[in-house]
Amino acid sequence: MEQYAIHGGQPLIGEVEIGGAKNAALAILAAAIMTDDVVTIENVPDVRDTKVMLEAIESIGGRVEHIDRHTVKIDASKINDFIVDGEAVKKIRASYYFLGALLGKKNKACVVLPGGCNIGQRPIDMHLKGFRALGAKNEIIGNGRVETVAEKLTGAHIYMDVVTVGATMNVMMAAVLAEGKTIIENAAKEPHIVDLANFLNSMGAKVKGAGTDVIRITGVESLHGSTYAIIPDQIEAGTYMMAAAITNGNVTVKNVIPRHLESISAKLSEIGCKVIESDDSVQVIGTSQLTRTHIKTLPYPGFPTDMQPQMAVALALSDGTSIVTESIFENRFKYVGELLKMGADINVQGNSAIIEGVSCFKPAPVVAPDLRAGAALVLAALAADGFSTVEDIRFIERGYEDFPEKLRALGGNISKVDSEEELNRFKFRVVS
Ligand code: EPZ
Repeated sequence: MEQYAIHGGQPLIGEVEIGGAKNAALAILAAAIMTDDVVTIENVPDVRDTKVMLEAIESIGGRVEHIDRHTVKIDASKINDFIVDGEAVKKIRASYYFLGALLGKKNKACVVLPGGCNIGQRPIDMHLKGFRALGAKNEIIGNGRVETVAEKLTGAHIYMDVVTVGATMNVMMAAVLAEGKTIIENAAKEPHIVDLANFLNSMGAKVKGAGTDVIRITGVESLHGSTYAIIPDQIEAGTYMMAAAITNGNVTVKNVIPRHLESISAKLSEIGCKVIESDDSVQVIGTSQLTRTHIKTLPYPGFPTDMQPQMAVALALSDGTSIVTESIFENRFKYVGELLKMGADINVQGNSAIIEGVSCFKPAPVVAPDLRAGAALVLAALAADGFSTVEDIRFIERGYEDFPEKLRALGGNISKVDSEEELNRFKFRVVS
């Protein structure tokens, strides 16, 4: 089975180009089908989840043309179905964006209930509340499918009981073609929410206030074609920034929007790293002894939950006691058991992890439990002096493009291997 073979102990040093934001791309690719004109999307990250979204668009009659590795042309004029199903779609969370996009376009949608990282119950009640408010009838129709149908979509005043990225984006999509005005209160403010709103507005939608907790939408008759480039991925960037802290290296992430990384940069400074910001890059210089601190994950602009595992790995190597509190998802500490195999000293109590820093990690075979935890375990293995392996890397490949290649370019000793023989060849190469 494919796994990463890692020989850790070297600092990561150099520059890394950050790709398009996965969590913006997944919503924008779904929104692209809302017009019958051709849409060109640039800076699409080439990862498993975006591939699945593009396959889903083709499965309902959309045409996808790959201009280059990161640019796609989408023609949804021939979409002939409103049911999005299939083995691949079941595995990703973002399939639910076809509910908002198709409800907006065709007044009906039927999508297999979302999969995605097993980090909590992850209900979709707020998505369905928003569709209902716009005039749709929602029904769980068996086979794990949810259907939402409306005679007509009419603007509404919707209050989100919880701050939810997915529901904010899904309801925004359905509302842009509803008749009249929609207000979404207690909206999520992540950079990818703003990116989706900017994309929809580039197609002629009228969305105001994205990035604040009140989004105002005036419905339009139809949307037209557009060419749009996706923002850089703040979590991919944060992961490589954290890699500099964890390996006491010196990494510059390029093609980023520093403002989107503020909470991550602030915490890296707090634990003793030097953080140097430029217009479109951030340099992180590690230190031989990281300092403890506390973290609480919060909706943007708070510290992102998708950076929680990576930050915990850095704190596990710091001096003293740190507390990490996960306030977004109820099951996002599954990586702790794997880190304990590497000598970490972490005790999970409810939604907090009490971390006693250790001087170093021991190499070990570990298993990725989900996307961000998997990336965090790779960073831990790169800090551990000796051979480690990380299994279930399919999770990691859902959200990180060329992860081993980019880490190797920074001096990391990591390869994807698919057999015992390849693993032994990797070990032989390292020791010879
Ligand atoms: C998106 O998930 C991201 N995934 C997640 O990234 C990210 O962790 C999360 O937003 C928070 O930033 C994608 O964009 C594909 P939510 P999403 O709706 O939309 C509760 C990664 O690693 N909730 O903001 O599912 C929910 O249970 C992934 O890239 C409801 O109660 O997250 C959670 O506790 C992992 N009812 C909280 O809100 C709902 O209807 C935040 O969830 C919806 C959500």
